[in-house]
Amino acid sequence: MGQSVRQKRTTTPLSFLSDSPIHRFTDSPKFLLAIETSCDETAVAVLSGERRILASLVSSQNQVHSPFGGVVPELACRAHMDVLAPMTRQALDEAGVRVRDLDAIAVTAGPGLIGALLVGVSQAKAMAFALGIPLVAVHHIEAHIAAVLLDHDDEDVFPAVALVVSGGHTHLYDVKGPGRVRPLGRTRDDAAGEAFDKVAALLRLGYPGGPAIDRLAREGDPRAVAFPRPRVEGAPFDFSFSGLKTAVRRHLAGSSPLTPALSPQGRGGSLDAVCSPSLPSGERDTPRFSPLPSHGELSPESSPLPFGERDRVRGIADVAASFQAAVVDVLVDRTIRAARETGVRNVIVAGGVAANSALRKGMEGACASDGLRLFIPPPALCTDNAAMVAVLGARYLAMGRTASLDLNPRDRWGLGE
Ligand code: KG4
Ligand code: ZN
Repeated sequence: MGQSVRQKRTTTPLSFLSDSPIHRFTDSPKFLLAIETSCDETAVAVLSGERRILASLVSSQNQVHSPFGGVVPELACRAHMDVLAPMTRQALDEAGVRVRDLDAIAVTAGPGLIGALLVGVSQAKAMAFALGIPLVAVHHIEAHIAAVLLDHDDEDVFPAVALVVSGGHTHLYDVKGPGRVRPLGRTRDDAAGEAFDKVAALLRLGYPGGPAIDRLAREGDPRAVAFPRPRVEGAPFDFSFSGLKTAVRRHLAGSSPLTPALSPQGRGGSLDAVCSPSLPSGERDTPRFSPLPSHGELSPESSPLPFGERDRVRGIADVAASFQAAVVDVLVDRTIRAARETGVRNVIVAGGVAANSALRKGMEGACASDGLRLFIPPPALCTDNAAMVAVLGARYLAMGRTASLDLNPRDRWGLGE
């Protein structure tokens, strides 16, 4: 594996960049290459015109990071270096586009992990320089919002309130169009995706935790445990998830005052037996239970588990479902409030957590009863990808918002601030 990656490295795009010395601007690019390396997904896409995606490749680093329970920046950076060049070659091949036919390069320039961003930005700059074509610096969060433009016209979508929920961000924006974004609210501590990942770690579900909780929660009772729905005093559009994570930890350690079940059957108690609540008080913060048998295929009803084990799995599924319900309630509440306050009729939900089935359902119901139109990209375009970078890059290019070749990535970069 290491060997084949090294061999492929010798075919870096830079080795076949030879022609096209003329710098040209186009309103709507014939072919635009987009690169995304802000966190733990390497992604490359080729776009034609405003929104025709000719190729879109994503290489996930989940296997690299899962033993550590979170993203390790140095490993992310190395993995991007290993795959970005061969993926660029592959995306161009799949699109049937020659490198010399590219009109522009768009790249995520922030926010994100600085070393990871550097890999994408360096290659993008080198290609733009060698080909003599424009370079476009794309904001990662705005690209998540722009993913809806792959399926809809700008006039249909904007103005809108946008909720962006990812591993590092939970933000609400008032969006008039590309480049016209005003922040309304944000998380004060953990991002929604971070909360999913941390709670999944407490439940020993592996990394990334969001998809695992989403799957397991389908088997649980969302009313089993009354987890809090935190509000931020005096800031109606802000979020706070760290207390919710702590409530889950306390519940698992058996020391929570939040254990009474809301459901008539009161199934929330089954976890207490699992979590050995008789530990010395100093050790109670850490949940005490053995890992689930196989987090991919869990189903308390269908799995051939012994009786006690089945109960235990159901108890954990109840915690997953109750936690997820709390997050969804908070996200839906703040978003609908923001739409009411700003008076816009369109709502966009984007970012990795927007792939969550309960959030999609909850948001659909709430928007329908408020008469709001909801735009959520398909799940594969909610998590990090380069198609969203491409579609926003094309808009920036049309607006003349190109970057110079001394572009530096920014690990912190407020949107519309
Ligand atoms: O947008 P994204 O791919 O990367 C960042 O920009 O951070 O979001 C990744 C986050 C992770 O925290 C992951 O657990 C979460 O999105 N996520 C989900 C789901 N799929 C991904 N969270 C809840 N339910 C999902 N189905
Ligand atoms: Zn993202």
